[in-house]
Amino acid sequence: MSTRSKPATPEDAVPGHVAIIMDGNGRWAKNRLMPRVAGHRKGVEALRGVIRACAERGVSHLTVFAFSSENWRRPQEEVSLLMELFMRALENEVARLHENNIRFRVIGDLSGFSERIQVLIRDAEALTRDNTRLTFTVAANYGGRWDIVQAVKKLMLSGVPAGAVNETVLAEQLSIADMPEPDLFIRTGGEQRISNFLLWQLAYTELYFTDTLWPEFDAAALDAAIASYRTRERRFGRTSEQVQSAS
Ligand code: IPE
Ligand code: IPE
Ligand code: MG
Repeated sequence: MSTRSKPATPEDAVPGHVAIIMDGNGRWAKNRLMPRVAGHRKGVEALRGVIRACAERGVSHLTVFAFSSENWRRPQEEVSLLMELFMRALENEVARLHENNIRFRVIGDLSGFSERIQVLIRDAEALTRDNTRLTFTVAANYGGRWDIVQAVKKLMLSGVPAGAVNETVLAEQLSIADMPEPDLFIRTGGEQRISNFLLWQLAYTELYFTDTLWPEFDAAALDAAIASYRTRERRFGRTSEQVQSAS
């Protein structure tokens, strides 16, 4: 008999919620002596493939980091091109998401975006709100710290007494309060950091880092991440023995 403990994540388990930091677009373009924006364009294509692959594999929630609160610090020209790309993607991709029964959402401080983008976001969310196959969420002008601060503000404005504040009450005010917490976090592009993504929600998420640059991340790369996920034992603070006897 093998002494190695059996992982508690079943061999065919599909992570219900996958959260991705799509990083490496700029380096992908640089490697090809192309402008950074060419990498972002290619990144949109990669995202299209990953959305499809997630839906096919039965993932119910996909949340991606598209633009962080800190990305405004980039050169003005890159920021403008990213905004244009975001707007074009909203105009061109939402109908296809809707046809595929995918719910679309955006989280982040939308007041940072142009009126036109805000309208496109609201319309896309309204159009797809009853879709059930996959909830696809884009974090844009998002920061994990911003999310926690806006949750605290909402609580204070609602007049909740300090004694009534607990983790459940606070979590209910976060941007993706109605979703399960991410099971699998993926960061492409080789860096091993969270970069102010979903700080609260990643507390017990399985982390996966790959050197693959985002424009090259495809269905096979997603499968490799899911395969890694399946080898993890999710203990949530318990001992391995407890987890084994419960499963
Ligand atoms: C991720 O790719 C996309 C955004 C942050 C908008 P990067 O643009 O960060 O690519 P690298 O990290 O410079 O390669
Ligand atoms: C994180 O990527 C944010 C997105 C992918 C949108 P960055 O490339 O901006 O992160 P840092 O600055 O290297 O941590
Ligand atoms: Mg980067």
